Amino acid sequence: MRIKDIQNIFHHELDELYGKEEVNSFFFMLTETFFGLERFALALDPEYTISKEQETPLFAALSELKFEKPIQHILGKAHFFGLEFCVNEHTLIPRPETEELVQWMLDGIDNFKLEKLRILDIGTGSGCIPIALKKNLPNAEIIAIDISAEALKVAQKNAEMNEVDIQFIQADVLHLESLNFNRENSKLFDIIVSNPPYVRNLEKELMRKNVLEFEPDSALFVEDNNPLIFYDKIANLAKANLQPNGSLYFEINQYLGKEMIDLLTEKQFQNIELKKDIFGVDRMMKCGKL
Ligand SMILES: C[S@@+](CC[C@H](N)C(=O)[O-])C[C@H]1O[C@@H](n2cnc3c(N)ncnc32)[C@H](O)[C@@H]1O
Repeated sequence: MRIKDIQNIFHHELDELYGKEEVNSFFFMLTETFFGLERFALALDPEYTISKEQETPLFAALSELKFEKPIQHILGKAHFFGLEFCVNEHTLIPRPETEELVQWMLDGIDNFKLEKLRILDIGTGSGCIPIALKKNLPNAEIIAIDISAEALKVAQKNAEMNEVDIQFIQADVLHLESLNFNRENSKLFDIIVSNPPYVRNLEKELMRKNVLEFEPDSALFVEDNNPLIFYDKIANLAKANLQPNGSLYFEINQYLGKEMIDLLTEKQFQNIELKKDIFGVDRMMKCGKL
């Protein structure tokens, strides 16, 4: 069948759900992954034809897209900060907002390629934050923790794929008494970062099926009556485990910026900054320890 005809079937079946542009984008991602075809190749050769056997994975992907399975799960990969990451049902798909958080961190470090920083990422998921940081801070020592052993397997694979060395540790941050993983008393962190679960159950109705049904609940949701549970615990740990002048960075729930400022102010962090993301909503915070 001509690939152009298959593309038309994709539009017929999916445009109502996703819109024409997104369907085009999915289609090109699939043909690039399955057949190594560049976008412009299809425009240059509209008669390009594939065999029955080659059609099979494309039509399988079409069925999965109809059920709103995320394209990243269909392809098994996602892009973040110009790097490729494996993702699966145990890891959150890295988001563009989180790329902005990483850029903000790098912007805050002087002479960043030279720095010998010690950095901790809490709730690392696919490992996107520490891996993107390490690519840009080759001298940094980076530790990343997650409660999920399955997520850590993916993160470790991603570190190997991207040729960086990160120490991954399985730990439940809500039950940690210290961040002193190496049992060396003097080893404090220069930077602690976290994009913890922050979506309240009451916000579920605003979310699409592709997130609700395919991404891990444990990566996303917190109880409505205690939505800042992770931030409260991490801020307490950061007070005791950051260097003087060290920095704490968070990705946050867009509706809880004010509550986050109150929490960090009460814990006597300094230079508290709230920053909007490209979508214009409060999305990240930075503060310092005296
Ligand atoms: C919002 S996801 C962030 C993943 C990744 N850092 C990113 O930005 O794409 C939150 C992560 O926190 C982890 N997590 C949830 N509860 C945790 C806990 N009690 N201790 C440590 N990690 C936890 C989840 O497994 C998930 O990987």
